[in-house]
Amino acid sequence: MAAFFINDEDNMKSIKVGLLGIGTVGSGTFNVLKRNQEEIARRAGRAIEITMVADLNTARATELTNGEVKVVNDANLLVSDPDIDIVIELIGGYGIAKDLVLKAIANGKHVVTANKALIATHGNEIFKAAQEKGVMVAFEAAVAGGIPIIKALREGLTANRIQWIAGIINGTTNFILSEMRDKGLDFDVVLKEAQRLGYAEADPTFDIEGVDAAHKLTIMASIAFGIPVQFDKAHVEGITKLQATDIRYAEQLGYRIKLLGITRQTEQGIELRVHPTLIPATRLIANVEGAMNAVMVRGDAVGETLYYGKGAGSEPTASAVIADLVDITRLATADPEHRVPYLAFQPNSMADTPVLSMADVTTSYYLRMHVADKPGVLADVTRILADSSISIDAMLQKEPTEGETQTDIIMLTHQTQERNIEAAIAKIEALSTVVGSVTKIRLEELN
Ligand code: HSE
Repeated sequence: MAAFFINDEDNMKSIKVGLLGIGTVGSGTFNVLKRNQEEIARRAGRAIEITMVADLNTARATELTNGEVKVVNDANLLVSDPDIDIVIELIGGYGIAKDLVLKAIANGKHVVTANKALIATHGNEIFKAAQEKGVMVAFEAAVAGGIPIIKALREGLTANRIQWIAGIINGTTNFILSEMRDKGLDFDVVLKEAQRLGYAEADPTFDIEGVDAAHKLTIMASIAFGIPVQFDKAHVEGITKLQATDIRYAEQLGYRIKLLGITRQTEQGIELRVHPTLIPATRLIANVEGAMNAVMVRGDAVGETLYYGKGAGSEPTASAVIADLVDITRLATADPEHRVPYLAFQPNSMADTPVLSMADVTTSYYLRMHVADKPGVLADVTRILADSSISIDAMLQKEPTEGETQTDIIMLTHQTQERNIEAAIAKIEALSTVVGSVTKIRLEELN
């Protein structure tokens, strides 16, 4: 095995790190590593230093590293440099980043990455290559930025059977939803503000369509349940269709709407879904506002736990990157078979539990329908729900405004299967007294 071992003599030497891409997170990593170098060395058992940076903008890279490290514009030089022990990949995306990570692994280097898209879509291939080569791949920074959620799931909660995880794992969308609720603003207006503040990317599609959250959820589900990463099986729904009206009605019923990533082990399989979700306003997680992230994890032994913090940003993300560097430094001398497994479970003990389709998922629902304000309408709707064995938990009917002949009815249901509610909605929409389509938002009590 071409494993990377460090003998006692090597232990005296510092760990040499190469940085692929020096933007916001890269410069944060350089600065924190330097600022806290003494403490970090005391914790890791040896010094950790960035000695090489690869970035297309070499002038800016030289400036950001005060001319103290070797700067190259060809990333291939870095991943093949014999002096580099650990490669930090901060390029992002699945293209060139994947090639470079695989090359680094092939060259016997450990890898630290913040790239959730890469791990969620190509993690299985990357971990296999790393295992064959006896090197570590660490990705704490890929999920919820500075919150040590990977560490918590993989190590701190290792005694538990994880039952479910529910997380606010995209700061951009949480900021947008908070502003929409607080200020009664429309989605488009708040999105522009999020971009101005630098929360949302110039192309915010991955954030607002739920893809970024689904990447992070996919990774957490694998670690929680010991299944391969399967981003393609995730149900992904963003916040672009959410209306300010529904945020207001939810509030009147005692709920907040959040973009949640939810994964749950059931007897039939694993739920893996990202969508706007009503949660009781009294839950701690419902009060996570702005660009903050929070992840709830329920384990059979520990019960419910909650992890809160910054999910993005230069030094919060650097905090996670450096924690990985320290872990690798500590474990580099360990026999590869006795290190912490990439996905928490030993590679030969992974489960093939199926990921459920959305139609098989069981949850509660918020339904809003616009109806003619005349006798019998409500009875028709409730009969359809009763015929489908869907029980109503709460109801709100808006007083029609002066001169109006139509009004909104809002219903909260008890739990039912998604395919069941879909069939009932189709029947409700077919009623001549119901105008347009029924708005459906999922609801989780999280208890
Ligand atoms: N764009 C992400 C967010 C941060 O808004 O949370 C990086 O994952």
